[in-house]
Amino acid sequence: MNDIEPGGARYMTQLFGEKNKSGLTRKLIEALFPMFEEASAGAIAVDREARITWINSSYLQLLGLKDPAGVIGRPVRQVIPETRMPEVVETGKPLLLDIMEYQQQQLVVTRLPYYDDSGNIVGAVAFVLYDDLQPLTPLVSKYRRLHQDLAAARKALARKARSTRYSLGDFVGASPGALEVKRRARLAAGREMAVLLLGETGTGKEVLAQAIHSVSTRAEKPFVGVNVAAIPDNLLEAEFFGVAPGAYTGADRKLREGKFQLANGGTLFLDEVGDMPLALQAKLLRALQEGEVEPLGSNTITSVDVRVIAATSRNLEAMIADGSFRSDLYYRLNVLEIPIPPLRERLADLGLLCETLLWDISEGLDMRAEITDAGVAALASYDWPGNIRELRNVLERALTMSEEGGMLDADAMFKVLPRVGARPASQIASRPVRPLAVTLAEAEAQAVEEALVASRGNRTKAARLLGISRSVLYEKLAKMS
Ligand SMILES: Nc1ncnc2c1ncn2[C@@H]1O[C@H](COP(=O)(O)OP(=O)(O)OP(=O)(O)O)[C@@H](O)[C@H]1O
Ligand SMILES: [Mg+2]
Repeated sequence: MNDIEPGGARYMTQLFGEKNKSGLTRKLIEALFPMFEEASAGAIAVDREARITWINSSYLQLLGLKDPAGVIGRPVRQVIPETRMPEVVETGKPLLLDIMEYQQQQLVVTRLPYYDDSGNIVGAVAFVLYDDLQPLTPLVSKYRRLHQDLAAARKALARKARSTRYSLGDFVGASPGALEVKRRARLAAGREMAVLLLGETGTGKEVLAQAIHSVSTRAEKPFVGVNVAAIPDNLLEAEFFGVAPGAYTGADRKLREGKFQLANGGTLFLDEVGDMPLALQAKLLRALQEGEVEPLGSNTITSVDVRVIAATSRNLEAMIADGSFRSDLYYRLNVLEIPIPPLRERLADLGLLCETLLWDISEGLDMRAEITDAGVAALASYDWPGNIRELRNVLERALTMSEEGGMLDADAMFKVLPRVGARPASQIASRPVRPLAVTLAEAEAQAVEEALVASRGNRTKAARLLGISRSVLYEKLAKMS
């Protein structure tokens, strides 16, 4: 089948055969093929082995070739490197529309397989529909616009996912202790300095970190939190600084950004910074001093601009004394220190806190929850090792158990205030039967709380008491709060 020129119609007859085509189909093909060939900027055919069997003169011209004899019989890839005709012959599937590069030109092409009378693939034909994208400009620019919109929407979504839930008003409290916290937070918001939040579990460190970010000049930029205690030590470096493509077996082929890169321009919240292994402390200090990070397995350094807010419930000064925390890092992080008092030291805020928390809790429920003065007084008799998170849990539990349309009095509170040791059997028996998952989740929350009480808020100890790892405990706490 070495027909070369010009031969569209003749070639078509050869391609599709005459025997099995009904008169009508043949007429249609006969009419279409020359029309396509004529209208297109070039046409070419290959055999089952993807060798060129025919090419028309306009395609030759487009390819910058003179002599058709020089290309007939050659593998099509040798002549047009980017062609996908071999794929069409291989799979039998047409590629109806594709953009193909040829020596810096972009060709819009269509490729169709063809069959012999018994239905076997014998080759493929291709037409160059356009030899420049000009006629497609409206389509291409619409596509580009859609693409840009999509990218922008994705970015906005990612920013939203990373942005903050809390602002300063969410740090509830009017006691002198709470007011001092807010004064310092406002001070921190107006400057770029590093902030260290110190407070027991559940005192609102996360609330405050987000609040500072959202009133700072970086509010429109990402807020990225990383809980050092919740991530296994061996993964921390990658989490912080990212991973270079192919840094280790199984690593992504693309650069994986670390929290530093993600927080670029915004705020990086280092939660539980006291749990950081010494080796990483050195690397963190360097990153903060130089404003540069080096992804794992790469030897290129990128500069980052992050504002750091760190938090811990541990006594960093004691840790410095026993050598488990670097003093130079401590001074770097602790430019402005905000100690957050535990709830037992600001019991004056109990009423206000209860009001806000109950409002928040009952928002999703179909009731209005309130607490009597006696109810608040009952809460003041407890010393709140789990602080405001625990207060919230206690109120939630009281509400679930109350029958009085959501008015909580002292009795309701005493029923649910944690007491170390088992609850009276009568109380358990009087509970209505509920789905197992609910009961189990509550029992788990109760166990976690009791462990925290017993360990006086020390989570490492609490995890040990519960026989679970610290990161599992964190997961459970995150689910509970
Ligand atoms: N001052 C506050 N006003 C209102 N709600 C608060 C306040 N402080 C904390 N909360 C609530 O208490 C819960 C725990 O707060 P947060 O997660 O900020 O504590 P944390 O100090 O980070 O605790 P942890 O050390 O356990 O991580 C959250 O549900 C938060 O909304
Ligand atoms: Mg926290």
